[in-house]
Amino acid sequence: MRCLVFSDVHANFAALEAVLRDVKQRRIGYDVVWFLGDLVGYGPDPNECIEQVRALAPAVALAGNHDWAVLGKVDPAAFHDLAAEVVMWTRSVIRAENLAYLDARPTQAKAEGCLLVHGSPREPIWEYVIDLATAAANFAVMETPCALVGHSHVPLLFVADPEQPEAKPRAFLVAPNTPVFLKPSLRYILNPGSVGQPRDQDPRAAYALLDTEARTWTLYRTTYPVHHTQAKMRALGFPEALIVRLQLGR
Ligand SMILES: [Fe+2]
Repeated sequence: MRCLVFSDVHANFAALEAVLRDVKQRRIGYDVVWFLGDLVGYGPDPNECIEQVRALAPAVALAGNHDWAVLGKVDPAAFHDLAAEVVMWTRSVIRAENLAYLDARPTQAKAEGCLLVHGSPREPIWEYVIDLATAAANFAVMETPCALVGHSHVPLLFVADPEQPEAKPRAFLVAPNTPVFLKPSLRYILNPGSVGQPRDQDPRAAYALLDTEARTWTLYRTTYPVHHTQAKMRALGFPEALIVRLQLGR
C-alpha cells in the first residue's frame, strides 16, 4: 500500500495546492491519503483547505489541537496569543459544513500496522514528539511497530530497537527525495513535516510517501508562493510574526 501522508496544513491553501501539484508532477502514485491533523489555524484559507482535503477522500483524516480549538473542544487560552487570535478569526469565517467535518475527525486511527495520531501515541492531540526522552516514553506504550505523527512541523524520524529496550532511540532529520528503508526488526515514529507552516528552517511545504510493501518512507519538499499566503494574512490583519515565520520556515 502506498500512502500519501501529510499534516499541519494550517489553512495555507497555496501550500496545499503546491503539494498536490508536486505529487502529480513527480508522478507519485498512491493508494490512500492519510492526513494527520490541523487543517486550520495560523493561515488565511480554512474553508478552501477543508474542502480540498475532503475532495481527496482521505482514508484517514485526524483532528489536531488547532482544529479542536476552533471547535471549542479546547480553550484557545491554552494557545500562544497570536495563535489564539487566528483561532477566533477562523471561528468567525468557517462554514457550518466545514466545522461539522472538523468535528467528525477522530483523534487516532490504525492502518497498515501503523498508529496514526496528530501529537503522540500516548497523547494524540497535545504532545510533541521532538526529543529522545519523549520518543522513548512513547515507544514504551506503542502497540504497533510504527507510528505516524504530526504537530511539531519537523520531519523527524525516531527509531528504536525492541531487542535493546534499554538503549535510547535515535532521531534523524529526514532529507528529501531519499527513501528511508524501514527495517522489519526496528520500530519507528515518523513525521512528514508540515504542509502549511514548516518549522525546520526550510520554508518549503513538506509531505511524505509511506510504501508499506517496499517498506520505505520518502520525504518530499516543494516550494510554493509564500508571498500569496502572506499577502492574504496581511490583508486580514493577522499578526506580523505569523506572516514572517512562513518565509523563514520556523
Ligand atoms: Fe500544527
